[in-house]
Amino acid sequence: MYTLRDVTKRYTRGKKTVHALAGVDLTIEDGGRLVIQGPTGGGKSTLLQMLGGLDRPTSGSVELDGVDLAKLSEARLTTVRAQNIGFVFQSFNLIPTLTAQENVETALVPLGGKAAERRRRAAEALDSVGLGERLGHLPGEMSGGQQQRVAIARALVKQPKVLLADEPTGNLDESMRDEVMEVLETMWKEHGLTFIMVTHDSAIARRAPRLATIRKGKVTITENAAA
Ligand SMILES: Nc1ncnc2c1ncn2[C@@H]1O[C@H](COP(=O)(O)OP(=O)(O)OP(=O)(O)O)[C@@H](O)[C@H]1O
Ligand SMILES: [Mg+2]
Repeated sequence: MYTLRDVTKRYTRGKKTVHALAGVDLTIEDGGRLVIQGPTGGGKSTLLQMLGGLDRPTSGSVELDGVDLAKLSEARLTTVRAQNIGFVFQSFNLIPTLTAQENVETALVPLGGKAAERRRRAAEALDSVGLGERLGHLPGEMSGGQQQRVAIARALVKQPKVLLADEPTGNLDESMRDEVMEVLETMWKEHGLTFIMVTHDSAIARRAPRLATIRKGKVTITENAAA
């Protein structure tokens, strides 16, 4: 479970200071799903970076299961990320010279273990996102939707507690968007993940049972019991 208390993030460039997060209090239950929306520059990606331990807040605490990510050493933070947190970004961030299977395996390298075991788990993860037939394909040989499914397999192969997605369908056309959303929903349900997703898609936001809207670094939560 996430507990954020009075989280702020300031960026300073020369004389100008941006308050990207201006005092965020938020709890996210294990296995919960939170959709984040809001205007550009509102702080959505910044919040996701705090949740993922990719960056530290200027002040406040970001607890994951009682451990404050803001206070962890760089080495401990790297371990927490490698074990517990999967990321999916708008740009798929696959390595173009590696096959689908090799791309997925990269997520397991920091966890140690045998190469054969990594290959087996990567194949299994790709199979679970419907790409069992594409293990040997390079990113350039796949559609955008397929590439994003490889990225989802890479995020989930380590069986993380948390999946963070920053506009995962932002670079996709409508049909591929549905395909990727379906995979994400299935993974959330099947794996009991805590799933936090930034989206600009108002249809997705409308359907969200719990919606966080961020404007000027402030979060407002809307619960939608009907969704
Ligand atoms: N590394 C950085 N250095 C300086 N300012 C930054 C940095 N990262 C973000 N900002 C600023 O912080 C604010 C919040 O940015 P953030 O990327 O979180 O917005 P966002 O809601 O994700 O926007 P978008 O919808 O465009 O992705 C913006 O004003 C942005 O310019
Ligand atoms: Mg963003």
